Amino acid sequence: MIGPGGREHAIVRSLLSDPNVSEVHCAPGNAGIGRLVPTHAIDANDPGAVTALAVRLAVDLVVIGPEAPLAAGVADAVRAARIPVFGPSKEAARLEASKAFAKAIMAEAGVPTAMARVASDAEQAADALDAFGAPYVVKDDGLAAGKGVVVTSDRAEALAHAQSCFDAGGEVVIEEFLDGPEVSLFVLSDGRTVVPLAPAQDFKRIFDGDEGPNTGGMGAYSPLDWAPAGLVAEVISRVAQPTIDEMARRGTPFAGVLYCGLALTGRGMRVIEFNARFGDPETQAVLARLRTPLGGLLMAAAKGQLDDIDDLRWSPDAAVAVVLASENYPDAPRTGERIRGLNKVNALESVHVLHAGTALDDDGKIVSAGGRVLAVVGLGTDLEEARERAYEGIGLIKVDGSQYRRDIAAKAARGEISVAPAGIHEQADRV
Ligand code: AMP
Ligand code: GLY
Repeated sequence: MIGPGGREHAIVRSLLSDPNVSEVHCAPGNAGIGRLVPTHAIDANDPGAVTALAVRLAVDLVVIGPEAPLAAGVADAVRAARIPVFGPSKEAARLEASKAFAKAIMAEAGVPTAMARVASDAEQAADALDAFGAPYVVKDDGLAAGKGVVVTSDRAEALAHAQSCFDAGGEVVIEEFLDGPEVSLFVLSDGRTVVPLAPAQDFKRIFDGDEGPNTGGMGAYSPLDWAPAGLVAEVISRVAQPTIDEMARRGTPFAGVLYCGLALTGRGMRVIEFNARFGDPETQAVLARLRTPLGGLLMAAAKGQLDDIDDLRWSPDAAVAVVLASENYPDAPRTGERIRGLNKVNALESVHVLHAGTALDDDGKIVSAGGRVLAVVGLGTDLEEARERAYEGIGLIKVDGSQYRRDIAAKAARGEISVAPAGIHEQADRV
């Protein structure tokens, strides 16, 4: 397992519960992963270092968690050493690494997404903002750990974000605003065949009520009782399969997980973004419910054998993951704080902790080491119970200055999320 965070902790935990997986290693991992499996302090973004480790350990499969190693070509290097790898090539990972590339693929494949323009200077940016009108959506074209997007009704703020991207030598994508609830659907692909996991919802903003700046994700839950029937089938037929087919047609097949970030608007479903890896923290909620052994699924995706996979099995329980973040996240998080109360949480029933930015200090104590520190996952017969458990758990954890949202999955638990019926308006923006 390659990666340092909560997603990787969740994947390692699931792999360890797969009866066919005999041994798991993680690089670099974190303090929580280090309690479960051997960890290796290498640079996860260095193709040579990851390949050398995989060869030395004689692993059967390398699973790449984050986007940065994918964009750096780690999967290509491991594949070249003839070791099966779960994660797309550098070329295929451009679906995430370049928003402009993703838009081009979607246009080619006929995938519904927000109308967008690429801008590379202030004048083009101003024209595009005025073409779409408020609220404005301005996206850094490159990888920005979920933080490169500004959604605002303030034109000056939108322009300033574009300018900061230009100053850094980049381009921006400016889009029409998509209204409606968001869904994250992870779709496994072996380059040809696709297998969907259960949909989840993420909470991107730092504060309750979806206020404040975007983060990497402050919480997640699954399943989505409010989602329209047939949603997953529609995402497969209109989004995932056409995208995977287009990548194969171009000779750059995508093997790994295609993360479809969607908005369910009044005019129908639209792709907000693609990612080339599992989402964090959605994975923490989704894998808590997966009953099909994960190792076999990832291996089948890596080896081009997903058409041998039967329907996945899921726990009927709901899962809620609440992220605890450092003081000042997402700007300049304060780290190095002691984390207390972990054992108390792990003693609770139907609750577990997944570490993200944690490390051991010189005395062997667990301290915060990143913006997002950990997630507490609660399982319950419904969202309300899962929420109660997750919040009971996170309330026992003490990290000076830390913060977490109190409203993860709250609206869904109260039945307050609805999707506007799409229909006659569906074609309105196809002109
Ligand atoms: P992204 O990095 O593209 O996922 O964007 C981060 C977040 O910004 C998304 O999860 C949405 O909440 C918001 N966002 C991105 N694009 C749009 C859009 N076109 N309309 C409305 N919100 C958006
Ligand atoms: N949870 C959002 C992401 O992983 O990008």
